[in-house]
Amino acid sequence: MPSFYLETFGCQMNEHDSEQVAGLLAAQGYRRVATPQEADLVLYNTCSVREKAERKAFSRLSEWRRGRADGKVIGVLGCMAQRRGEEILGREPQVRFVCGPASYRRLPEFLARLEAGERRVAGLEAADGETFETPLIQRDSPFRAYVTIVEGCDKSCAYCVVPSARGRERSRASEAILAEARQLAAEGYTEVQLLGQNVNCYRDPAAPGCDFVALLGRVAETPGLRQVRFTTSHPRDFTPGIVAAIDAHPTLANHIHLPVQSGSTRVLERMQRLYTREEYLERIAWIRAARRQIAISTDVIVGFPGETEADFEQTLRLLEEVRFDSMFSFKYSPRPGTAALALDGQVPEQERGRRLVLLQGLQREIQTRRHAALVGTVHEALVEGFNPATGQWIGRTSQNRVLNFTSPGGRADNLLGRYVEARVTRAGPNSLAGERVGNLL
Ligand code: 5AD
Ligand code: SF4
Repeated sequence: MPSFYLETFGCQMNEHDSEQVAGLLAAQGYRRVATPQEADLVLYNTCSVREKAERKAFSRLSEWRRGRADGKVIGVLGCMAQRRGEEILGREPQVRFVCGPASYRRLPEFLARLEAGERRVAGLEAADGETFETPLIQRDSPFRAYVTIVEGCDKSCAYCVVPSARGRERSRASEAILAEARQLAAEGYTEVQLLGQNVNCYRDPAAPGCDFVALLGRVAETPGLRQVRFTTSHPRDFTPGIVAAIDAHPTLANHIHLPVQSGSTRVLERMQRLYTREEYLERIAWIRAARRQIAISTDVIVGFPGETEADFEQTLRLLEEVRFDSMFSFKYSPRPGTAALALDGQVPEQERGRRLVLLQGLQREIQTRRHAALVGTVHEALVEGFNPATGQWIGRTSQNRVLNFTSPGGRADNLLGRYVEARVTRAGPNSLAGERVGNLL
Protein backbone atom coordinates (compact mmCIF):
# COMPACT_ATOMS: atom_id res chain seq x y z
CA MET A 1 0.00 0.00 0.00
CA PRO A 2 1.59 3.35 -1.00
CA SER A 3 1.76 6.01 1.69
CA PHE A 4 1.45 9.79 1.76
CA TYR A 5 2.50 12.63 4.02
CA LEU A 6 0.58 15.91 3.82
CA GLU A 7 1.53 19.18 5.50
CA THR A 8 -0.80 22.18 5.34
CA PHE A 9 0.00 25.89 5.44
CA GLY A 10 -2.46 28.78 5.46
CA CYS A 11 -6.10 29.27 6.26
CA GLN A 12 -9.02 27.03 7.19
CA MET A 13 -9.93 26.75 3.52
CA ASN A 14 -6.60 25.11 2.95
CA GLU A 15 -7.01 22.86 5.99
CA HIS A 16 -10.33 21.72 4.62
CA ASP A 17 -8.88 21.22 1.14
CA SER A 18 -6.29 18.97 2.76
CA GLU A 19 -9.07 16.95 4.38
CA GLN A 20 -10.57 16.47 0.93
CA VAL A 21 -7.23 15.59 -0.66
CA ALA A 22 -6.54 13.09 2.14
CA GLY A 23 -9.95 11.52 1.52
CA LEU A 24 -9.30 11.23 -2.22
CA LEU A 25 -5.89 9.68 -1.61
CA ALA A 26 -7.30 7.19 0.89
CA ALA A 27 -9.91 6.17 -1.68
CA GLN A 28 -7.06 5.49 -4.12
CA GLY A 29 -5.48 3.10 -1.61
CA TYR A 30 -2.96 5.50 -0.07
CA ARG A 31 -2.23 5.30 3.66
CA ARG A 32 -1.43 8.47 5.62
CA VAL A 33 1.81 8.58 7.61
CA ALA A 34 3.08 11.07 10.19
CA THR A 35 6.53 11.90 8.80
CA PRO A 36 7.78 12.65 5.29
CA GLN A 37 10.60 10.14 5.74
CA GLU A 38 8.24 7.15 5.75
CA ALA A 39 6.09 8.40 2.84
CA ASP A 40 6.14 7.50 -0.86
CA LEU A 41 4.23 10.68 -1.69
CA VAL A 42 5.17 13.91 0.11
CA LEU A 43 2.68 16.74 -0.36
CA TYR A 44 2.72 20.35 0.77
CA ASN A 45 -0.53 22.28 0.64
CA THR A 46 0.75 25.82 0.30
CA CYS A 47 -0.42 29.37 0.98
CA SER A 48 0.42 32.51 -1.00
CA VAL A 49 -1.17 35.19 1.11
CA ARG A 50 2.12 36.57 2.45
CA GLU A 51 5.65 36.19 1.17
CA LYS A 52 6.68 34.44 4.38
CA ALA A 53 4.28 31.56 3.72
CA GLU A 54 5.72 31.03 0.25
CA ARG A 55 9.28 31.19 1.55
CA LYS A 56 8.48 28.50 4.10
CA ALA A 57 7.09 26.22 1.41
CA PHE A 58 10.17 26.71 -0.77
CA SER A 59 12.36 25.91 2.20
CA ARG A 60 10.47 22.62 2.67
CA LEU A 61 10.98 21.81 -1.01
CA SER A 62 14.69 22.60 -0.84
CA GLU A 63 15.12 19.84 1.75
CA TRP A 64 14.48 17.37 -1.09
CA ARG A 65 17.03 18.77 -3.52
CA ARG A 66 20.08 16.91 -4.87
CA GLY A 67 18.72 13.38 -4.88
CA ARG A 68 17.45 13.45 -1.34
CA ALA A 69 13.90 12.71 -2.56
CA ASP A 70 15.28 9.27 -3.45
CA GLY A 71 12.29 7.68 -5.15
CA LYS A 72 9.68 9.70 -3.29
CA VAL A 73 7.19 11.76 -5.26
CA ILE A 74 7.33 15.37 -4.01
CA GLY A 75 4.20 17.39 -4.77
CA VAL A 76 2.96 20.94 -4.24
CA LEU A 77 -0.72 21.70 -3.79
CA GLY A 78 -2.67 24.82 -2.94
CA CYS A 79 -2.47 28.49 -3.69
CA MET A 80 1.26 28.69 -4.39
CA ALA A 81 0.99 25.72 -6.76
CA GLN A 82 -1.87 27.44 -8.56
CA ARG A 83 -0.03 30.73 -8.93
CA ARG A 84 3.54 29.53 -9.45
CA GLY A 85 3.22 25.92 -10.59
CA GLU A 86 5.22 26.33 -13.80
CA GLU A 87 7.94 28.24 -11.99
CA ILE A 88 8.14 25.59 -9.24
CA LEU A 89 8.61 22.86 -11.83
CA GLY A 90 11.29 25.01 -13.50
CA ARG A 91 13.38 25.74 -10.43
CA GLU A 92 12.78 22.65 -8.25
CA PRO A 93 13.66 19.57 -10.34
CA GLN A 94 12.82 17.24 -7.43
CA VAL A 95 9.14 18.33 -7.56
CA ARG A 96 7.19 15.90 -9.74
CA PHE A 97 3.71 17.12 -9.14
CA VAL A 98 1.97 20.50 -8.85
CA CYS A 99 -1.77 20.90 -8.47
CA GLY A 100 -3.89 23.98 -7.70
CA PRO A 101 -7.21 23.97 -5.82
CA ALA A 102 -9.23 24.05 -9.04
CA SER A 103 -7.73 20.72 -10.13
CA TYR A 104 -8.18 18.57 -7.03
CA ARG A 105 -11.06 16.73 -8.68
CA ARG A 106 -8.51 15.28 -11.09
CA LEU A 107 -6.21 13.95 -8.36
CA PRO A 108 -7.01 10.25 -9.04
CA GLU A 109 -6.00 10.72 -12.68
CA PHE A 110 -2.80 12.54 -11.70
CA LEU A 111 -1.85 9.82 -9.22
CA ALA A 112 -2.44 7.13 -11.83
CA ARG A 113 -0.16 8.97 -14.26
CA LEU A 114 2.58 9.30 -11.63
CA GLU A 115 2.24 5.62 -10.76
CA ALA A 116 2.51 4.76 -14.45
CA GLY A 117 5.91 6.43 -14.41
CA GLU A 118 5.15 9.84 -15.88
CA ARG A 119 7.99 12.05 -14.69
CA ARG A 120 6.06 15.26 -14.01
CA VAL A 121 2.38 16.07 -13.72
CA ALA A 122 0.74 19.50 -13.48
CA GLY A 123 -2.88 20.38 -12.72
CA LEU A 124 -3.11 24.11 -13.14
CA GLU A 125 -6.41 24.79 -14.82
CA ALA A 126 -8.03 28.10 -13.90
CA ALA A 127 -10.78 28.00 -11.31
CA ASP A 128 -13.94 27.62 -13.35
CA GLY A 129 -17.65 27.95 -12.71
CA GLU A 130 -17.91 24.69 -10.80
CA THR A 131 -17.56 23.98 -7.12
CA PHE A 132 -15.64 20.96 -5.90
CA GLU A 133 -18.00 18.28 -4.60
CA THR A 134 -16.56 15.17 -3.01
CA PRO A 135 -17.98 12.83 -0.38
CA LEU A 136 -14.44 11.56 0.25
CA ILE A 137 -13.36 13.78 3.12
CA GLN A 138 -10.99 12.60 5.82
CA ARG A 139 -11.77 15.03 8.61
CA ASP A 140 -9.14 15.97 11.20
CA SER A 141 -11.63 16.24 14.05
CA PRO A 142 -14.31 13.72 15.09
CA PHE A 143 -16.64 16.44 16.41
CA ARG A 144 -15.99 19.63 14.40
CA ALA A 145 -16.42 19.73 10.64
CA TYR A 146 -15.68 22.34 8.00
CA VAL A 147 -18.27 22.78 5.26
CA THR A 148 -17.41 24.96 2.26
CA ILE A 149 -20.26 27.21 1.14
CA VAL A 150 -18.46 29.64 -1.19
CA GLU A 151 -15.26 29.17 -3.15
CA GLY A 152 -13.13 31.95 -4.64
CA CYS A 153 -13.54 35.69 -4.25
CA ASP A 154 -14.87 38.49 -6.46
CA LYS A 155 -13.51 41.36 -4.42
CA SER A 156 -10.29 43.02 -5.46
CA CYS A 157 -8.52 44.14 -2.31
CA ALA A 158 -5.35 45.80 -3.50
CA TYR A 159 -3.02 43.67 -1.34
CA CYS A 160 -4.55 40.25 -1.92
CA VAL A 161 -3.51 37.30 -4.10
CA VAL A 162 -6.53 35.17 -3.21
CA PRO A 163 -8.61 36.00 -6.30
CA SER A 164 -5.68 34.98 -8.53
CA ALA A 165 -5.19 31.75 -6.57
CA ARG A 166 -8.79 30.73 -5.98
CA GLY A 167 -10.67 32.26 -8.89
CA ARG A 168 -14.14 33.72 -9.22
CA GLU A 169 -16.66 33.49 -6.45
CA ARG A 170 -18.98 30.48 -6.70
CA SER A 171 -21.52 29.25 -4.19
CA ARG A 172 -22.37 25.61 -3.56
CA ALA A 173 -25.98 24.53 -3.94
CA SER A 174 -27.81 24.89 -0.63
CA GLU A 175 -29.21 21.37 -0.98
CA ALA A 176 -25.67 19.96 -1.13
CA ILE A 177 -24.65 22.01 1.91
CA LEU A 178 -27.71 20.97 3.93
CA ALA A 179 -27.29 17.32 2.95
CA GLU A 180 -23.69 17.48 4.13
CA ALA A 181 -24.75 19.09 7.42
CA ARG A 182 -27.36 16.35 7.98
CA GLN A 183 -24.85 13.66 7.15
CA LEU A 184 -22.33 15.16 9.58
CA ALA A 185 -24.91 15.26 12.36
CA ALA A 186 -25.77 11.63 11.65
CA GLU A 187 -22.07 10.75 11.95
CA GLY A 188 -21.92 12.41 15.37
CA TYR A 189 -20.39 15.77 14.53
CA THR A 190 -21.86 18.49 16.72
CA GLU A 191 -20.10 21.58 15.37
CA VAL A 192 -20.09 22.78 11.79
CA GLN A 193 -18.00 25.65 10.53
CA LEU A 194 -19.18 27.19 7.25
CA LEU A 195 -16.28 28.36 5.11
CA GLY A 196 -15.79 30.91 2.38
CA GLN A 197 -13.48 33.82 1.56
CA ASN A 198 -16.59 35.94 1.86
CA VAL A 199 -19.52 33.95 3.21
CA ASN A 200 -21.89 36.95 3.25
CA CYS A 201 -22.02 36.87 -0.56
CA TYR A 202 -23.46 33.35 -0.54
CA ARG A 203 -26.21 32.95 -3.12
CA ASP A 204 -27.72 29.55 -3.86
CA PRO A 205 -27.08 28.86 -7.56
CA ALA A 206 -30.29 26.82 -7.75
CA ALA A 207 -33.55 28.69 -8.32
CA PRO A 208 -35.18 30.33 -6.36
CA GLY A 209 -31.96 30.58 -4.38
CA CYS A 210 -31.48 31.43 -0.74
CA ASP A 211 -29.08 34.02 0.54
CA PHE A 212 -26.57 33.70 3.38
CA VAL A 213 -28.99 34.59 6.15
CA ALA A 214 -31.52 32.02 4.97
CA LEU A 215 -28.79 29.40 4.62
CA LEU A 216 -27.50 30.14 8.12
CA GLY A 217 -30.96 29.59 9.56
CA ARG A 218 -31.43 26.33 7.71
CA VAL A 219 -28.03 24.92 8.70
CA ALA A 220 -28.61 26.05 12.30
CA GLU A 221 -31.83 24.04 12.39
CA THR A 222 -30.17 20.78 11.38
CA PRO A 223 -31.16 18.30 14.09
CA GLY A 224 -28.14 17.07 16.03
CA LEU A 225 -25.91 20.09 15.45
CA ARG A 226 -25.12 22.06 18.61
CA GLN A 227 -22.91 24.78 17.28
CA VAL A 228 -22.58 26.46 13.90
CA ARG A 229 -19.81 28.93 13.07
CA PHE A 230 -19.01 30.77 9.86
CA THR A 231 -16.00 32.60 8.46
CA THR A 232 -15.03 34.98 6.89
CA SER A 233 -17.45 37.90 6.80
CA HIS A 234 -16.69 40.98 4.70
CA PRO A 235 -17.83 44.29 6.22
CA ARG A 236 -19.15 45.50 2.87
CA ASP A 237 -21.65 42.63 2.59
CA PHE A 238 -22.41 42.27 6.29
CA THR A 239 -26.10 42.88 7.06
CA PRO A 240 -28.20 43.30 10.23
CA GLY A 241 -29.95 40.08 9.17
CA ILE A 242 -26.86 38.10 10.17
CA VAL A 243 -27.03 39.50 13.69
CA ALA A 244 -30.77 38.78 13.80
CA ALA A 245 -30.08 35.17 12.72
CA ILE A 246 -27.65 34.73 15.61
CA ASP A 247 -30.23 36.13 18.01
CA ALA A 248 -32.87 33.79 16.60
CA HIS A 249 -30.88 30.54 16.50
CA PRO A 250 -29.21 29.34 19.71
CA THR A 251 -27.01 26.94 17.71
CA LEU A 252 -25.25 29.82 15.94
CA ALA A 253 -22.09 30.61 17.92
CA ASN A 254 -21.62 33.98 19.61
CA HIS A 255 -18.78 35.00 17.38
CA ILE A 256 -18.21 36.99 14.21
CA HIS A 257 -14.90 37.40 12.43
CA LEU A 258 -15.02 40.75 10.65
CA PRO A 259 -11.65 41.83 9.22
CA VAL A 260 -11.25 45.61 9.33
CA GLN A 261 -7.67 45.77 7.90
CA SER A 262 -7.29 49.48 8.78
CA GLY A 263 -8.98 52.13 10.89
CA SER A 264 -8.34 54.88 8.35
CA THR A 265 -10.89 55.55 5.63
CA ARG A 266 -8.13 56.91 3.41
CA VAL A 267 -6.17 53.65 3.69
CA LEU A 268 -9.33 51.55 3.30
CA GLU A 269 -9.99 53.36 0.07
CA ARG A 270 -6.47 52.70 -1.19
CA MET A 271 -6.95 49.06 -0.19
CA GLN A 272 -10.20 48.99 -2.22
CA ARG A 273 -12.06 47.58 0.77
CA LEU A 274 -15.38 49.22 -0.26
CA TYR A 275 -16.30 50.58 3.20
CA THR A 276 -15.31 53.49 5.41
CA ARG A 277 -14.25 53.56 9.04
CA GLU A 278 -17.73 54.84 9.91
CA GLU A 279 -19.47 52.07 7.99
CA TYR A 280 -17.35 49.48 9.76
CA LEU A 281 -18.23 50.99 13.14
CA GLU A 282 -21.89 50.94 12.16
CA ARG A 283 -21.67 47.16 11.68
CA ILE A 284 -19.98 46.84 15.06
CA ALA A 285 -22.91 48.77 16.55
CA TRP A 286 -25.37 46.29 14.99
CA ILE A 287 -23.48 43.40 16.53
CA ARG A 288 -23.24 45.10 19.93
CA ALA A 289 -26.99 45.77 19.88
CA ALA A 290 -27.76 42.04 19.70
CA ARG A 291 -29.48 40.35 22.59
CA ARG A 292 -26.66 37.83 22.79
CA GLN A 293 -23.11 38.85 23.61
CA ILE A 294 -21.39 38.28 20.31
CA ALA A 295 -17.59 38.24 20.34
CA ILE A 296 -15.87 40.04 17.47
CA SER A 297 -12.47 39.23 16.04
CA THR A 298 -10.64 40.99 13.23
CA ASP A 299 -7.64 41.10 10.90
CA VAL A 300 -5.40 44.17 10.59
CA ILE A 301 -2.62 44.97 8.13
CA VAL A 302 -0.06 47.58 9.16
CA GLY A 303 2.23 49.51 6.84
CA PHE A 304 0.05 49.33 3.72
CA PRO A 305 1.58 51.65 1.06
CA GLY A 306 0.79 55.26 1.93
CA GLU A 307 -0.19 54.54 5.54
CA THR A 308 0.97 57.59 7.50
CA GLU A 309 1.55 57.84 11.22
CA ALA A 310 -1.85 59.57 11.46
CA ASP A 311 -3.56 56.71 9.57
CA PHE A 312 -1.93 54.18 11.87
CA GLU A 313 -3.07 56.21 14.91
CA GLN A 314 -6.63 55.85 13.61
CA THR A 315 -6.24 52.08 13.59
CA LEU A 316 -5.04 52.21 17.21
CA ARG A 317 -8.03 54.39 18.15
CA LEU A 318 -10.37 51.97 16.38
CA LEU A 319 -8.98 49.09 18.43
CA GLU A 320 -9.67 51.10 21.60
CA GLU A 321 -13.16 51.93 20.44
CA VAL A 322 -14.22 48.44 19.36
CA ARG A 323 -12.23 46.47 21.94
CA PHE A 324 -12.02 43.35 19.77
CA ASP A 325 -12.06 40.01 21.50
CA SER A 326 -9.15 38.90 19.37
CA MET A 327 -7.10 40.10 16.44
CA PHE A 328 -4.83 38.66 13.77
CA SER A 329 -2.34 41.26 12.62
CA PHE A 330 0.17 41.35 9.82
CA LYS A 331 2.84 43.53 8.32
CA TYR A 332 1.88 44.40 4.77
CA SER A 333 3.58 41.97 2.41
CA PRO A 334 3.87 43.07 -1.25
CA ARG A 335 2.43 40.33 -3.47
CA PRO A 336 3.05 39.75 -7.18
CA GLY A 337 0.21 40.70 -9.48
CA THR A 338 -1.64 42.82 -6.91
CA ALA A 339 -2.74 46.42 -7.40
CA ALA A 340 -0.91 47.65 -4.29
CA LEU A 341 2.44 47.11 -5.98
CA ALA A 342 1.78 50.18 -8.13
CA LEU A 343 0.97 52.43 -5.16
CA ASP A 344 3.45 54.99 -3.93
CA GLY A 345 4.52 55.44 -0.35
CA GLN A 346 5.88 51.98 0.45
CA VAL A 347 6.48 51.88 4.22
CA PRO A 348 9.98 50.65 5.18
CA GLU A 349 10.16 47.17 6.69
CA GLN A 350 11.49 48.49 9.99
CA GLU A 351 8.60 50.92 10.34
CA ARG A 352 6.07 48.18 9.53
CA GLY A 353 7.65 46.13 12.30
CA ARG A 354 7.44 49.03 14.77
CA ARG A 355 3.75 49.56 14.02
CA LEU A 356 2.99 45.87 14.39
CA VAL A 357 4.61 45.78 17.84
CA LEU A 358 2.61 48.82 18.97
CA LEU A 359 -0.64 47.42 17.59
CA GLN A 360 -0.16 44.02 19.19
CA GLY A 361 0.82 45.60 22.50
CA LEU A 362 -2.38 47.62 22.59
CA GLN A 363 -4.55 44.64 21.68
CA ARG A 364 -2.84 42.56 24.35
CA GLU A 365 -3.79 45.16 26.96
CA ILE A 366 -7.37 45.20 25.71
CA GLN A 367 -7.65 41.41 25.83
CA THR A 368 -6.04 41.27 29.26
CA ARG A 369 -8.62 43.71 30.61
CA ARG A 370 -11.52 41.99 28.85
CA HIS A 371 -10.50 38.56 30.08
CA ALA A 372 -9.91 39.77 33.66
CA ALA A 373 -13.55 40.88 33.74
CA LEU A 374 -14.60 37.29 32.97
CA VAL A 375 -13.12 35.80 36.16
CA GLY A 376 -15.95 34.22 38.12
CA THR A 377 -18.27 33.76 35.13
CA VAL A 378 -19.39 30.36 33.84
CA HIS A 379 -19.13 29.36 30.17
CA GLU A 380 -20.11 26.41 28.08
CA ALA A 381 -17.18 25.00 26.12
CA LEU A 382 -16.64 22.31 23.53
CA VAL A 383 -13.71 20.19 24.72
CA GLU A 384 -11.02 20.00 22.02
CA GLY A 385 -8.16 18.29 23.80
CA PHE A 386 -6.22 17.51 26.95
CA ASN A 387 -2.90 19.02 27.99
CA PRO A 388 -0.99 16.40 29.98
CA ALA A 389 1.65 18.96 31.01
CA THR A 390 -0.89 21.06 32.94
CA GLY A 391 -3.54 18.40 33.60
CA GLN A 392 -6.11 20.71 31.99
CA TRP A 393 -8.73 20.02 29.40
CA ILE A 394 -8.73 22.47 26.49
CA GLY A 395 -12.13 23.93 25.71
CA ARG A 396 -13.47 26.53 23.30
CA THR A 397 -16.38 28.71 24.28
CA SER A 398 -19.18 29.80 21.99
CA GLN A 399 -17.40 33.18 21.83
CA ASN A 400 -14.38 31.32 20.44
CA ARG A 401 -12.20 31.83 23.52
CA VAL A 402 -9.82 29.13 24.70
CA LEU A 403 -10.83 27.99 28.20
CA ASN A 404 -8.40 25.54 29.83
CA PHE A 405 -10.00 23.86 32.81
CA THR A 406 -9.51 21.15 35.38
CA SER A 407 -12.07 18.44 35.93
CA PRO A 408 -12.53 16.42 39.15
CA GLY A 409 -11.54 13.13 37.53
CA GLY A 410 -8.74 14.65 35.42
CA ARG A 411 -7.96 12.86 32.19
CA ALA A 412 -10.10 9.88 33.17
CA ASP A 413 -13.20 12.05 32.75
CA ASN A 414 -12.88 11.49 29.03
CA LEU A 415 -14.33 14.82 27.96
CA LEU A 416 -13.06 15.02 24.38
CA GLY A 417 -15.82 16.29 22.08
CA ARG A 418 -18.19 16.91 25.01
CA TYR A 419 -19.81 20.20 25.99
CA VAL A 420 -19.08 21.21 29.57
CA GLU A 421 -19.60 24.21 31.81
CA ALA A 422 -16.56 25.72 33.46
CA ARG A 423 -16.03 28.66 35.79
CA VAL A 424 -13.23 31.06 34.96
CA THR A 425 -10.72 31.33 37.81
CA ARG A 426 -7.78 33.01 36.05
CA ALA A 427 -7.33 35.02 32.89
CA GLY A 428 -4.43 35.74 30.57
CA PRO A 429 -4.40 37.84 27.41
CA ASN A 430 -4.90 34.86 25.10
CA SER A 431 -6.83 32.33 27.13
CA LEU A 432 -8.87 31.68 30.24
CA ALA A 433 -8.28 29.07 32.93
CA GLY A 434 -10.97 27.55 35.08
CA GLU A 435 -12.61 24.54 36.63
CA ARG A 436 -15.46 22.36 35.49
CA VAL A 437 -18.79 22.93 37.25
CA GLY A 438 -22.01 20.95 37.20
CA ASN A 439 -22.88 17.94 35.10
CA LEU A 440 -21.85 17.16 31.56
CA LEU A 441 -24.07 18.76 28.95
N1 5AD B 1 0.08 41.36 3.38
C1 5AD B 1 -0.23 41.21 4.68
N2 5AD B 1 -1.38 40.65 5.11
C2 5AD B 1 -2.24 40.20 4.19
N3 5AD B 1 -3.43 39.62 4.31
C3 5AD B 1 -3.89 39.34 3.07
N4 5AD B 1 -3.02 39.75 2.14
C4 5AD B 1 -1.98 40.30 2.82
C5 5AD B 1 -0.76 40.93 2.41
N5 5AD B 1 -0.43 41.06 1.13
C6 5AD B 1 -4.08 39.38 5.58
C7 5AD B 1 -5.41 40.10 5.68
C8 5AD B 1 -6.41 38.99 5.54
C9 5AD B 1 -5.67 37.85 6.19
C10 5AD B 1 -6.18 36.50 5.85
O1 5AD B 1 -4.36 38.01 5.72
O2 5AD B 1 -5.51 40.71 6.95
O3 5AD B 1 -7.63 39.28 6.18
FE1 SF4 C 1 -5.95 30.53 2.25
FE2 SF4 C 1 -5.48 32.76 0.87
FE3 SF4 C 1 -3.47 31.42 1.88
FE4 SF4 C 1 -4.85 30.47 -0.20
S1 SF4 C 1 -3.61 32.34 -0.18
S2 SF4 C 1 -4.21 29.33 1.62
S3 SF4 C 1 -6.90 31.16 0.30
S4 SF4 C 1 -5.02 32.44 3.05
